Amino acid sequence: MATNTKPNMIDIELDSTSPEKARAGILVLGAFAGGRLPISSKKVDDASRGKLSAAIKRGDLEEKTGSTLLLSDVPGIQAERVLLVSLGKREEFGDKAFREAVSAAAKFLANGPAREVAETLSDIDVPGRSQVWRLQQASRIAADSAYRFNAPRAQGAKNERGVRKATILLSGKVTEEAKAAVRRGLAIAEGVALAKDLGNLPGNVCNPTYLANAARALGKEFKLDVEVLDPDDMKKLGMGAALSVGQGSAQPSKFIVMEYKRGGKSKPIVLVGKGVTFDTGGISLKPGANMDEMKFDMCGAGSVFGAMKTIARLGLPLNVVGLIPAAENMPGGRASRPGDVVTSMSGQTIEILNTDAEGRLGLADALTYAKRFDPACVIDVATLTGACVIALGNVTSGLFANDDELAEQLLESGEETGDRAWRLPMFDEYQDLLKSNFADMSNLGGRPAGAITAACFLKRFADGYRWAHFDIAGTNAVSGDAKGATGRPVPLLTEFLIGLAEKRTWGRRTPGARAA
Ligand code: BES
Ligand code: MN
Ligand code: ZN
Repeated sequence: MATNTKPNMIDIELDSTSPEKARAGILVLGAFAGGRLPISSKKVDDASRGKLSAAIKRGDLEEKTGSTLLLSDVPGIQAERVLLVSLGKREEFGDKAFREAVSAAAKFLANGPAREVAETLSDIDVPGRSQVWRLQQASRIAADSAYRFNAPRAQGAKNERGVRKATILLSGKVTEEAKAAVRRGLAIAEGVALAKDLGNLPGNVCNPTYLANAARALGKEFKLDVEVLDPDDMKKLGMGAALSVGQGSAQPSKFIVMEYKRGGKSKPIVLVGKGVTFDTGGISLKPGANMDEMKFDMCGAGSVFGAMKTIARLGLPLNVVGLIPAAENMPGGRASRPGDVVTSMSGQTIEILNTDAEGRLGLADALTYAKRFDPACVIDVATLTGACVIALGNVTSGLFANDDELAEQLLESGEETGDRAWRLPMFDEYQDLLKSNFADMSNLGGRPAGAITAACFLKRFADGYRWAHFDIAGTNAVSGDAKGATGRPVPLLTEFLIGLAEKRTWGRRTPGARAA
């Protein structure tokens, strides 16, 4: 079972043709609640002698942001159809409404009747945001909406509908900055698609060996240095914590190292992704309901793959290392028992009180391994705790950091992209919850503050460098009818890396100020 070979089958071009003259299967236009039209929509309304305003007046377009109305045979224009998208109230139009409108249009177009479309939403002013921002966001969202998991079905994939080429119409000239923004948006969507593909693959396909091969393939495509450590190599390094996770599985654990080197002599950014390809809980077995969703327990790893792909596609002038402790957490005759004590690569010993708190064991050794790169910073991404889902739900990723500046930069990258995170504390008082009578620490902090004690556990290994930890247990995937991986936090991570590559000055926005 292969991952999608062409995840972004959408092409995006920029053009300064006036909307009424644009040739397309569908022309996408925005409309504010109450019938106020942005300039591009107004032009079409005028050319069609008020066809749009008449439809709006009749109440055919709901006012809720993202509502859509398809109109055929609009007179006086070149496009075959018009898709009207509600932008909500003019006074309330901002980042969120912009994204919702673009995403609603993109979702419609992804299954719509037209192969070639033209859109004007990216030309609508968003308070406090530049055209470059609008183009990058819109391109990413449009390409992301075209994502389909290539599921194995007897009938094969049906792909007859949906947009293949989108032209973004701009009222001004098409600049190089604008083109670069579209390229970034598409490259980020490509990284998101890789993260989604790896997440969506079932546990019997995407095992640690599969991840290792995926790393080799990515390395080959983009000239990354890839090294895969087998259990024997891990043993030699003393990775007793990471090795304990997969010892009950028939699938051998892997420790994957990917290096992207385009940053000259600069210190590397190290990304660490939890790669538990299936989490049964081990001997501390999980309850059965929805256990299938534990195939998503490698989404942290998936996001590291995705981010590496995006930065390599863009050729960012950085050094970035990706580290993946990959393992399958299974019960079995060789599995860890509650009460087992293991020695981590750092030398610190860990009493495994609960074999379901396995992610932190792999991450601990990866954080120690990261030291050898003399990193500028280390960022780990992990579906670490159910407690984080209780704290922040499925909207926001949990962020922990031992460095305020790094935390601010990451929070702001989340704000830029709508892939948001929120910082939680790691006060020393919480460390007491990890006390063990039989080792340096236990791997279990108990029910209170579960996301925090997990982060405090990691902090003991993230020693001697700037470090941040994302708990994505609530944001990595969605359940229900739309079940699937989200690719988060690839948009946040790549925005951060693009910012570093551009030597961006941060702190332009205060994340807290937008909390509401
Ligand atoms: N992979 C889970 C965390 C998780 C839960 C991810 C729900 C996505 C959705 C992790 O390995 C785990 O089992 N954590 C335990 C830790 C506990 C035993 C301290 C948890 O959260 O219950
Ligand atoms: Mn677990
Ligand atoms: Zn897990």
